[in-house]
Amino acid sequence: MASLDTLFEAAKAIQAKAYAPYSRFKVGAAIATPEGQIFTGCNVENAAYPVGSCAEAGAISAMIAGGGHRIGEIAVMGEGEHLVTPCGGCRQRIREFAAPDTKIHIAGPEGIRKTFTLDELLPFSFGPDNLTDR
Ligand code: THU
Repeated sequence: MASLDTLFEAAKAIQAKAYAPYSRFKVGAAIATPEGQIFTGCNVENAAYPVGSCAEAGAISAMIAGGGHRIGEIAVMGEGEHLVTPCGGCRQRIREFAAPDTKIHIAGPEGIRKTFTLDELLPFSFGPDNLTDR
């Protein structure tokens, strides 16, 4: 898997490319696959506000389009002093391609601020197993 430093730098670089003219809140996300690939995404807003998409969603789309299958770990880089943890919808999006112990690193410009597991952010989650184990 890619180093945490590399993942952090990738999240920082893609955050700068975010299209966030409405919220002025730029977010970057970088996924490391178990095979060592890195895929990134940024938030892309829209004049029709609800149509905008989150950085994590972009990174997951890039992973799938690039042939990746699983999230080994993910870094999310936001602005401000608060922890920019993935929104509820993105926790579920991450859940689709991750394991309960998958690490979600929350970063600010200065570095990683806190690391959670997916299970900490989305306990008792619904996932593919619900549909297959019937
Ligand atoms: N945003 C993300 O990209 N990821 C998150 O997990 C939280 C929120 C974006 C969506 C919107 O463009 C901006 O941040 C403000 O909510």
